Amino acid sequence: MNLTELNRIAAAMVAPGKGILAADESSGTIKKRFDAIGVDSTETSRRDYREMLFRSKEAMSKYISGVILYDETIWQDARDGTPLIKLIEESGAIPGIKVDEGTQGLPMCPGELVTVGLDKLAERLKKYYERGARFAKWRAVIDIGSGIPSMTAISVNAHALARYAALCQAAQIVPIVEPEVLMDGDHDIDRCYEVTQRVLNQTFQELCVQRVALEGMVLKPNMAISGKKCAKQAPVEEVAEKTVRLLKACVPAAVPGIAFLSGGQSDEEATAHLNAMHKLGPLPWGLTFSYGRALQAAPQKAWSGKAENVAAGQSAFSHRARMNGLASKGEWQSSLEKKAA
Ligand code: 13P
Repeated sequence: MNLTELNRIAAAMVAPGKGILAADESSGTIKKRFDAIGVDSTETSRRDYREMLFRSKEAMSKYISGVILYDETIWQDARDGTPLIKLIEESGAIPGIKVDEGTQGLPMCPGELVTVGLDKLAERLKKYYERGARFAKWRAVIDIGSGIPSMTAISVNAHALARYAALCQAAQIVPIVEPEVLMDGDHDIDRCYEVTQRVLNQTFQELCVQRVALEGMVLKPNMAISGKKCAKQAPVEEVAEKTVRLLKACVPAAVPGIAFLSGGQSDEEATAHLNAMHKLGPLPWGLTFSYGRALQAAPQKAWSGKAENVAAGQSAFSHRARMNGLASKGEWQSSLEKKAA
């Protein structure tokens, strides 16, 4: 393993002004997104949609540091025969790949999940590296509810994240370690804080036990945030203050960068939260976005599966990428959104 090179890639993924496009929706998830805009999910429509994003010159060259791909996409070619991964490389962004194989029910723990995909992972990583992937993603899912999460769910998921991260580094691939505490419930921000703290502490303990080099990874956490169904929604400043406090308490400064998931926040909330955190700087790590929905909802709607809407889709994507790029430096203002609208 060449740790200097892993560290160089990790730092580039979280460079100020840039962040990561999570375009790694599984076939099931992208179908749900396409259903919402009335588009049939086929190999070709998925290719056309992602080609539109990767050919968005302004977004890709100025505001996107890396793109997380799904297995199908990394092997696909654009309409003109250029591999999609080449489009990403040519824009200056770094290609990455989601390598987990989704979740399964955790035995003896009703309602809880464990992420699977470690079998044969070493062989798969080798092929992805040859194809050009320089970082990977593995997402663990922790739900908050009555009596959950259990320590069992936290510990098996942290163990798997660390197994995955160690295998990535051995394959010269930067692991994005993503322990996502869901925001689906009616819990308040303090419960989210407390659960996320337990999850992050256990994750870093496992990373340490399994000898993962913190300098060669990126953390992808949720923010400390109120559950979607909670009657009392914490304001932007509280989310920013509590998230920064939580991360400072749990994430060693050796980690080069943290890139948030959006997790169901609205586009503008996700941007405002990141921006407000940068107002609390200086911070010990790079802090940016690795959004899926909060970057793609607008372009999906603008595109709606029609070739004549490609330019509109690209401009919607470029706008969100620019807003989040500014937020990653604390330079975003809500008036910039209104001007564009
Ligand atoms: P969202 O930003 O839509 O939560 O997706 C990010 C991601 O990659 C989840 O694994």
